[in-house]
Amino acid sequence: MDLIQKYNVPGPRYTSYPTVPYWDVNTFSAKKWINSFKKSFLESNQQEGISLYIHLPFCESLCTFCGCHKRITKRHEVEEPYIETLLKEWKMYCDILGSTPRIKEIHLGGGTPTFFSSENLKKLIHGIFKYAKRAEGYEFSFEGHPNNTTREHLQTLYDLGFRRVSYGVQDYSLQVQKAINRIQPFENVKRATEEAREIGYTSVSHDLVFGLPFQTLGDVIETINKTIQLMPDRIAFYSYAHVPWMKGNGQRGFSEENLPGGEEKRILYEIGKKLFSELGYVEIGMDHFALKTDALYHSMNNGNLHRNFMGYTASKTKLMIGLGASSISDSWYAFAQNVKSIEEYTHLVENNVLPVYRGHCLNEEDLIIRKHILNLMCQLRTSWDKNEDYFEQLPDVLESLEELKQDGFLILKEKELIVTDEGKPFIRNICMAFDVLLQRNKPDRELFSMTV
Ligand SMILES: C[S@@+](CC[C@H](N)C(=O)[O-])C[C@H]1O[C@@H](n2cnc3c(N)ncnc32)[C@H](O)[C@@H]1O
Ligand code: SF4
Repeated sequence: MDLIQKYNVPGPRYTSYPTVPYWDVNTFSAKKWINSFKKSFLESNQQEGISLYIHLPFCESLCTFCGCHKRITKRHEVEEPYIETLLKEWKMYCDILGSTPRIKEIHLGGGTPTFFSSENLKKLIHGIFKYAKRAEGYEFSFEGHPNNTTREHLQTLYDLGFRRVSYGVQDYSLQVQKAINRIQPFENVKRATEEAREIGYTSVSHDLVFGLPFQTLGDVIETINKTIQLMPDRIAFYSYAHVPWMKGNGQRGFSEENLPGGEEKRILYEIGKKLFSELGYVEIGMDHFALKTDALYHSMNNGNLHRNFMGYTASKTKLMIGLGASSISDSWYAFAQNVKSIEEYTHLVENNVLPVYRGHCLNEEDLIIRKHILNLMCQLRTSWDKNEDYFEQLPDVLESLEELKQDGFLILKEKELIVTDEGKPFIRNICMAFDVLLQRNKPDRELFSMTV
């Protein structure tokens, strides 16, 4: 347990490297972003295609644990103008790209995509394909709220090519649900899961969260027991990220004393991991478990697992364009984020201005470190070239790795590192050893959630 105290520190979740607070915004401009995604597009569109992340930020009510970028409203009149703006933004990208994009992946994230009517979601996807084609082996997925995902949503999106859905479940205990302002009976999740299966979805995922306010070991076990009655193909088992300082995220209604502490939280994770593996789920990278029949499991085995702002994905495209307020795009050479306010986003797009407001262009050092962080996050190992004396120039990296090795988290060979079973839950800490930007400039304010 001492190790939990030692390693339970604020740390990034590494959906990008450099992590957003370490972006050098001075290296970035809209012009550089345009050049960078054009280059990436030319290099990859024909072979692998591109990915689209579409952010649909509206939710009808606020869950008070939620760290996502969202806007709470019951006014559904917001749907149509928002979709029109998304399509206008997409058209701006297509005009710049010049030739027809081939889309390998679409992910509708939120907020709550199923806040939108199925008619409007259809309009959105038809609008996207007015200027694009489907790439071979395309994979389309969306996040659904079990309380408002209808059979019509599922059927409409299925007909448009969607085969994967992830449902936010979090926890089934009424006390926890009250504390996070999210009353969601098991019957709703059961209905949404079974309807997706009946229609033909090949991957249904449930998001569970441990470390929520008032959550006990019994609650986690009960939640897992209910979850496995439905046998989702994937389970995201997220550690609750308590980041109340982040503007507008609405984490409130409970205090820090109501949250399980570091050691208690680790026990919640351990029990989840044990139960999932007994049931045939395999741990994938960080936070995820999948049945051996699921694409995520196969991609881990054949080395194709990738991690980006959407989390883990079964395949990688060089270019991922993020549409919508607050979305982040990744051209492999640069990151760019859209403005967060829906009003500002709409205003910029209406004036034919790409709504990016900050980003980062990766330098040679960033590219090397990102490679290692991706290897660690996706394959739990990394190696460096015989001639790559890079780490010799970074004594801090080697020193931190040596300490992690002493604590039993990794096997360190001359040019290779393998994460041990004991090290798996500390993968964020292991990545932090490579994160030279974090080490050079330790944060002087709260930026990241705790690693345990
Ligand atoms: C955009 S939401 C899912 C879709 C839909 N809005 C819903 O709530 O069902 C994405 C997922 O992020 C996870 N999440 C949100 N806030 C979190 C936090 N503070 N810590 C850990 N996971 C969080 C939840 O598991 C949630 O289901
Ligand atoms: S958990 Fe989902 S429904 Fe709840 S506020 Fe966050 S995005 Fe909206």
